[in-house]
Amino acid sequence: MPSFSESLTILGIETSCDDTAAAVLCGSTVLSSIVSSQDEVHSPYGGVVPELASRHHMRSILPIIDRALETANLRLEQLDGVAVTCGPGLVGSLLVGVSVAKSLAMASNLPLIGVNHLEGHLLAIQIEHVVPFPFLCLLVSGGHTSLYVARGLGDYTALGGTRDDAAGEAFDKAAKMLGLGYPGGHIIDQLAQQGNATAIRFPRAHLKNGKVGFSYSGLKTALRQFIYSQDSRQLRMEDIAASYQEAVVDMLVGPTIQAALGQGLTRIVVSGGVSANSRLRQRMREEGEKLGLQVFVPSPKLCTDNAAMIAYAGAWRLVQGQRAGFNLNAAAMLPL
Ligand code: KG4
Ligand code: ZN
Repeated sequence: MPSFSESLTILGIETSCDDTAAAVLCGSTVLSSIVSSQDEVHSPYGGVVPELASRHHMRSILPIIDRALETANLRLEQLDGVAVTCGPGLVGSLLVGVSVAKSLAMASNLPLIGVNHLEGHLLAIQIEHVVPFPFLCLLVSGGHTSLYVARGLGDYTALGGTRDDAAGEAFDKAAKMLGLGYPGGHIIDQLAQQGNATAIRFPRAHLKNGKVGFSYSGLKTALRQFIYSQDSRQLRMEDIAASYQEAVVDMLVGPTIQAALGQGLTRIVVSGGVSANSRLRQRMREEGEKLGLQVFVPSPKLCTDNAAMIAYAGAWRLVQGQRAGFNLNAAAMLPL
């Protein structure tokens, strides 16, 4: 574990999408990590409704922060700083976390740190394992599917990303088409465990001429066509889920391994909500092992949105003397 943050106790706040989260981290020890999911709120719509998300953040944020502090057995005055996600994400959702973090920092005279949500995902693994730099990171969530070379803290280079949907969206939209509910990734993962991944051969898109990137629109169209075809009536939902998941996973594993080899990197970190997928975790490890690459994936609770990763990403910036002013704003688009 990098020792930069050993003695710092940080409150992390995360409200970039539809999870309200607060955590207290001391060094790399998670003293508390509370996540309040809004899945039930958005489920009837098959996706996140931004206005509902921000209203629910407003209701939940203070009780969630209270619980995080109580669980850690600490008062605000005993902390060293407040780290908050300031982008990218839904601007109305982000504003709730940013406003509350500013108020707490101001009232308790604590330093405030604005954190890029993507850096939180990229560094989440460090809470559990020491992964030395440099490494390749596949960041794969509901909003992002990108490859980065991480050479050090704050030193990240984007190699390429999705041309259309993120892999998480590809799971969520497929689950909606199949009438399985929201969010779809976890549901498809569960069903696929009882299914046959070779039942249907869905197409796999690969970018040409050695370009690094991903594309899921063709796969989604293929699923839609399959659903309206005669064949779909003869197949179990478990087999459809497993076959679809296998295609998504193939399209993530291949380009990631190729990019690691191309960049001469021997370590791969997989992070973001989709890295909770059991088949992706298994395949990435198997394929990496064959080529002598080390593959690191956080435990599932650190893959999906959480505030422990935000506190962690804020800690090293705080140590370096970085502070956000009270004019910190939410940014819907914020590159890493
Ligand atoms: O990182 P995250 O919690 O939020 C964003 O930053 O987007 O990722 C949420 C995404 C959703 O699309 C969800 O369906 C997907 O992660 N997801 C999964 C699994 N668990 C969550 N996808 C596949 N398999 C899973 N087990
Ligand atoms: Zn996320």
